[in-house]
Amino acid sequence: QAEDGYRLWLRYDQLKNASLRTGYESRLATISLPGNSPTLQVARKELEMALSGLLGKMVRIPETRNPQASLQIEKSSARVSAQELTSLGEEGFLIRSTGGKSPLLITANSEVGLLYGVFHFLRLLQTEQSIEKLNIKEVPRLALRMLNHWDNLDRTVERGYAGFSIWNWHTLPTYMDQRYIDYARANASIGINAVSITNVNANATILTQPYLQKVKALADLFRAYGIKVYLTARFSAPVEIGGLKTADPLEPAVQQWWKDKAREIYAIIPDFGGFLVKANSEGQPGPQDYKRTHADGANMLADAVAPFKGKVIWRAFVYSAEVPDDRHKQAYSEFLPLDGKFRSNVLVQVKNGAIDFMPREPFHPLFGALPKTPVMMEFQITQEYLGQGTHLVYLAPLFKECLESDTYQKGKGTTVASTLNGMAGVSNIGTDINWTGHLFGQANWYALGRLAWNHELSAEDIAKEWIRMSFSTDPSLVSDLTQMMLASREILVNYMNPIGLHHIMATGHHYGPGPWVADLNRPEWNPTYYHRADSIGIGFNRTATGSDALSQYHPDAAKKWSDPATCPDIDLLWFHHLPWNFTMRSGRTLWNELCYRYNLGVDSVSWMQTVWNRQQSKLDAQRFEQVKMLLNIQHQEAKWWRDACLLYFQSFSRLPIPAPYEQPA
Ligand code: GCU
Repeated sequence: QAEDGYRLWLRYDQLKNASLRTGYESRLATISLPGNSPTLQVARKELEMALSGLLGKMVRIPETRNPQASLQIEKSSARVSAQELTSLGEEGFLIRSTGGKSPLLITANSEVGLLYGVFHFLRLLQTEQSIEKLNIKEVPRLALRMLNHWDNLDRTVERGYAGFSIWNWHTLPTYMDQRYIDYARANASIGINAVSITNVNANATILTQPYLQKVKALADLFRAYGIKVYLTARFSAPVEIGGLKTADPLEPAVQQWWKDKAREIYAIIPDFGGFLVKANSEGQPGPQDYKRTHADGANMLADAVAPFKGKVIWRAFVYSAEVPDDRHKQAYSEFLPLDGKFRSNVLVQVKNGAIDFMPREPFHPLFGALPKTPVMMEFQITQEYLGQGTHLVYLAPLFKECLESDTYQKGKGTTVASTLNGMAGVSNIGTDINWTGHLFGQANWYALGRLAWNHELSAEDIAKEWIRMSFSTDPSLVSDLTQMMLASREILVNYMNPIGLHHIMATGHHYGPGPWVADLNRPEWNPTYYHRADSIGIGFNRTATGSDALSQYHPDAAKKWSDPATCPDIDLLWFHHLPWNFTMRSGRTLWNELCYRYNLGVDSVSWMQTVWNRQQSKLDAQRFEQVKMLLNIQHQEAKWWRDACLLYFQSFSRLPIPAPYEQPA
């Protein structure tokens, strides 16, 4: 069988350890999973497929209850106290086994909770854990755990690096691709419960009847997996497809148009999630076109979906060329005055940082700053600025760094995670056989789901789970790949954007280096706007003597950043413009540190190659070769970044690149 990566982390190959297999087999000799609702059928099928594969023998599970069975899967089990059941909430589950002859139990309050429990249980088997004595209680930390696809109706994917959109609008709704099913399985296995399937740079056509029928087909399929469908709403849709002269949110005819549209959608998809909106950002239409606020716009849509319990997710990624201030400050400046002005079914979705999914950004100052507004995190799984589908970068450390940052907004310990009501990841999924282009991109999809479920999981534990399920449980392989994955993000930061540099990529495609670009007609798009290199030094002064973006943070959070002496190296040039001879913690000058970091990044990619290559005998040929070839490209491109950036910055510093580091070619 070709090992092409299609099966993701749900491979279910036969367990190699025979004694473990027989142990599982006897513990799971009979299974009771009564009922035949769509969700229970999905759970049964998954169990049958997984156990047949893992145990290497056909497993069939009847639809009838068997009180003697050794594995009992049932809703609201009488074996569990009412109090305990209540504590599981709508989506949580319990897996319990007291050992001996007593049955193993998976219970939950809902069928979707049971499905999550089944996937969790399968993960235990896939990662070869003991199932003798279990007492696992899992309740998701966040209610909304979402993927945002940036998929266009012509099947191109904005910032997609894994082929075309998996949504085949041409053959929908009649032809239901197997991919839709496997996509839903993968999402349910990590607890994703919402997907927005269209680009935030929206096309109003998705809101027309023929397309809504196609969306319905997907929503009908996803329902059994606990996944709700959302659509992006183009703010000017009433003009474009409604024939109105305006999209002014305070205009009664416009309000009525959206109310009618919502009623139409909910008649087709009764559990439609709601709208995701990008407005007045990067040229998109929005309420400000009519001198109205983001709250006016969001509330109009919120009122339209409220009768159907729908939500509006309004993005805070706003900036425009007309605002002369540091782009870092725009979202905060616009949204802070609106706190408390949004309807209760509006969530504001904030990117992890204030610029745009850079390899490293300090957390966005809006986190914790909108106490009266439900706020969602927006991470980018697709690696727009992190090597796209070509570089191996494990993103859980980036996600965790942000989630664990202290906003201090309600005192010390007010982590970003503690301020959230939901989490979305911009999808990296496409029609490539392995879904994500780079095989290791799968780990980022996986990590987003796991962290949305429980942000306290460590990046290391998530990596280990993923490796064990995707490759093998061999200890040396797990240890090598874990190390490589955990280091990979910092390695990329070193060869692309060390010491807090940011937004120095090439224009348009955002792939390679372009720190010299200075001639774009929108100043805030020019890399020179961000690195500000000159004969004296480099970096963006965002302290009180500069753009003062720092003042948007709680003073206790801003404190460490405000002084170069206390500012962590990793954020230094994000907040300060410093002389080339500034002394770093390492004792090196800033210039020498820059050279050191860029070289270290390149050398570390060689190290990743060594690690990968030495595990060859434990990997299948096809996946081994794929990753090996991509690591070769990554190594070349790390040099490209280093050489381009150092030679360019050297034209300002006028300093030699110190030995023993490799001189740019
Ligand atoms: C980035 C990205 C755009 C995207 C935008 C957004 O700027 O380059 O393609 O539309 O983010 O998040 O809205």
